[in-house]
Amino acid sequence: MNKLKEETVEYRMEQFLRANFGNEFLHNKKVIAISCNQFGDTGKGKFVSLFSKWADIIARVTGGDNAGHTIIFEGVEYVLHLIPCGITDPDKINIIGTGTVIYPRALLQEIIFLKSKGFSCDNLRISLKANVILPSHVVLDRLGESQAGKERIGSTGKGIQPCYTDHVARRGLTMNDLLNPEVFRRKLKKALDYHTMIIAGLGGYEAAREIMKCDHLENGKFIGRDELFNFEAIVQSYLQYGKELRGIIEDTDAFMRHSLGKKNILLEGAQGYLLSIDYGTYPFVTSSDCSPAGMAKGAGLKESDIDVSFGIIKGFYMTRVGKGSFPTEMGDKSSEMWCNEGGDREKEKSMFIGSTLNDTNSFAQGVVLRRLAGEYGATTGRPRRTGWLDLSLLRYALDGGANQIILTKLDVLTGMNIIKVCHSYEYAGPDFNYGDIVLTKGDIIEKAIVLPEVLDHCTPLYKEFPGWTEDIRNVKHFSDLPENLINILKYVFKNVPATPRIISVGPGPDDTVFVLPFDLN
Ligand code: IMP
Repeated sequence: MNKLKEETVEYRMEQFLRANFGNEFLHNKKVIAISCNQFGDTGKGKFVSLFSKWADIIARVTGGDNAGHTIIFEGVEYVLHLIPCGITDPDKINIIGTGTVIYPRALLQEIIFLKSKGFSCDNLRISLKANVILPSHVVLDRLGESQAGKERIGSTGKGIQPCYTDHVARRGLTMNDLLNPEVFRRKLKKALDYHTMIIAGLGGYEAAREIMKCDHLENGKFIGRDELFNFEAIVQSYLQYGKELRGIIEDTDAFMRHSLGKKNILLEGAQGYLLSIDYGTYPFVTSSDCSPAGMAKGAGLKESDIDVSFGIIKGFYMTRVGKGSFPTEMGDKSSEMWCNEGGDREKEKSMFIGSTLNDTNSFAQGVVLRRLAGEYGATTGRPRRTGWLDLSLLRYALDGGANQIILTKLDVLTGMNIIKVCHSYEYAGPDFNYGDIVLTKGDIIEKAIVLPEVLDHCTPLYKEFPGWTEDIRNVKHFSDLPENLINILKYVFKNVPATPRIISVGPGPDDTVFVLPFDLN
């Protein structure tokens, strides 16, 4: 049955944009950024695909194939790692910008996969300045993690950190180098010499050879006979990638700047503010700046070019993948250990059978939440650590400017009796100097200080709310949401400098409540 025009998500979105941002917004060409205000995995994919209907250009601007965006197109689920979510529409231009790092094999595999599903990749453009991930970057990443012991970050093992490190150390190779064999050879030699020296210093030759046998590194193709790396094999593979990508590698920075004011531009974030190299919970972060400022830069634009900055959070809970502080984690250290050291989706299927979201054991409650919400890494399959919504961290993340909030996954909490929201922390550690402030035991912290030395000693202070039991999946209007849900929402937004704009009540595009100005009265 055809839907009435008023019921379509496209129509509702247009009304929403008009009501909240003015008629002018729809008549002039604008820039929208969608980023995450938590630790990533907040469901950006759904909203980037939704807003790609509005956009002419969709640009993925930071990170690499460490990211994973799940989108649902015509009822089918796709996980994209590098290619922007606009690729499902052949009329849109999709950019992979200068701020990204690209493993060309992963990119080509994604292109082949998408083409096999009937999507055209003709309108895909790759920045000639994006840095290239080499096999040796992947080796360095995995070797470094395996030798780091307790200091391990829990990286995705995709070579992201060593690649960005080389960029900053002025040793990086760019996508443009794939088009120029002599330049590529010269720069590769320099990079491989350096990488080999580091690996030798770590005493990691054997381990490096083992790592290179994995499928991601083409089952040993890059293992050298006399040298650690097979220089010629890498040259051949990468120049071949260059040939296949020729025609779509271009100066996207110039294109983006030229398109300002002429096209609607959507900047697609990756990871989350709290994982930003510059603003996140350093050192437990990724190696790119995934804040709105970093996104603009990664696209070749200025932060002031962004007209509306949406920031996504999960609806009253949070997740984190890998290591790092997480004060509101359900199950505390046991959860962190389980998720980082051996726990997986298969094993969890048979755990706490019969438990519900209301289990009084918080570790079990976290596992049930993870299972119900499908909180397993889209890239690594690892269990995501689960915890309560943390307003101290949110207040901090909002300094990044993404204060038009999209709340996702609210349907997951249906049936939870008590929902806890962390409004601040009590500091419980030894005296600690934070610039000119001395933190002392018992201090109340409203806005998080994102150092592990502080966060690990913060006891969350919670306000508890009764949950809701009503099925919210089909709700389209704010006023139809359960009163208990609205009460929590009002509390959250009374306590943080941001406005709720969109509420996601299910995975499909239709399962979306657009908040209109009068809803908040
Ligand atoms: P890397 O980005 O692979 O270097 O990993 C550094 C940290 O960022 C690790 O804790 C990862 O789990 C985390 N991370 C990287 N990409 C994502 C993502 O897309 N979602 C959530 N966490 C991520």
